[in-house]
Amino acid sequence: MDISTPAQAADFSDLKASLARRASEIEASLDALIPPVSDDSARLYDAMRYATLGGGKRLRGYLVVETAVLFGVSEAAALRVAASVEMLHAYSLVHDDLPAMDDDDLRRGQPSAHRKFDEATAILAGDALQTLAFEVIADPATSGDASVRADLVLALARASGAAGMVGGQMIDMLGEGRSLPLEAVRRLHELKTGRLIRYSAEAGALLGGASSDQMKALLSYGHDIGAAFQIADDVLDATASAEELGKTAGKDEASGKSTFVALLGIDGARREAEVLMNRAVTALSPFGDRAKHLHLLARYMVERKS
Ligand code: IPE
Ligand code: IPE
Ligand code: MG
Ligand code: MG
Ligand code: MG
Repeated sequence: MDISTPAQAADFSDLKASLARRASEIEASLDALIPPVSDDSARLYDAMRYATLGGGKRLRGYLVVETAVLFGVSEAAALRVAASVEMLHAYSLVHDDLPAMDDDDLRRGQPSAHRKFDEATAILAGDALQTLAFEVIADPATSGDASVRADLVLALARASGAAGMVGGQMIDMLGEGRSLPLEAVRRLHELKTGRLIRYSAEAGALLGGASSDQMKALLSYGHDIGAAFQIADDVLDATASAEELGKTAGKDEASGKSTFVALLGIDGARREAEVLMNRAVTALSPFGDRAKHLHLLARYMVERKS
């Protein structure tokens, strides 16, 4: 298969098989790291498990594993880091759906966490998932090398805090009902979604002891697919159904969100995502055919239907 021709419709069957296999490994890792309990914390753990298990595309975890594979990292270590980023991501979704934020009732085809439980439980489950994500990567079981563990913690903190996901969510909320300029929307995407996706590629490289050139290439790839991914999310919000998405459709326009679709229209947004995707693929060239899955993943991020 020639995967270097962007105009050609991609055959994602190989990628989908690989994604499905990794998703079930990541699921098993999450299940083991968030065991159900029967004491007075049962409700909290149930909500944490509800928010993380049994759904989601696992694209961030997949990115961790596939970048780690480039460097021959042990599967067990990669899966712990993959589970950790999926916990962080799940926390961001639980809080994103809260009434004070996007006020969404549906997530991954199920009632969102605050609808299934209650708002306080959802907030606390999100908080606990966030801290557990850091606990998992700081644990010696993830890497025997303390400096690798510290690098992972530092990178995840930067990607998810005020200069990353949370900062982006703030701009997103402030942009409701206002038309932010294109550059501001670019920045909003880069922070709220891009940073955690870029971290996922970076984490595999950190685990694998990548050279500075290899790290640069993977950071550049992660940056571009992260931005392209959120554009695709905005396009899907405007074009797909709730059944396809497993979450409410048409929400961005209804809440007056500042998106690429609002600024450039659906075709303009798709073109922007395509440019980013092509640049991401170019960044992978130093890895040659070994990065085949990452290459396909970049295309899947923008061509996906859910
Ligand atoms: C949804 O992310 C939130 C965004 C950052 C756009 P995903 O589309 O990766 O959600 P899941 O994990 O597959 O449910
Ligand atoms: C959320 O973006 C990004 C996060 C950091 C959770 P959206 O609000 O567009 O995500 P969805 O569409 O609800 O999944
Ligand atoms: Mg949101
Ligand atoms: Mg939302
Ligand atoms: Mg969205």
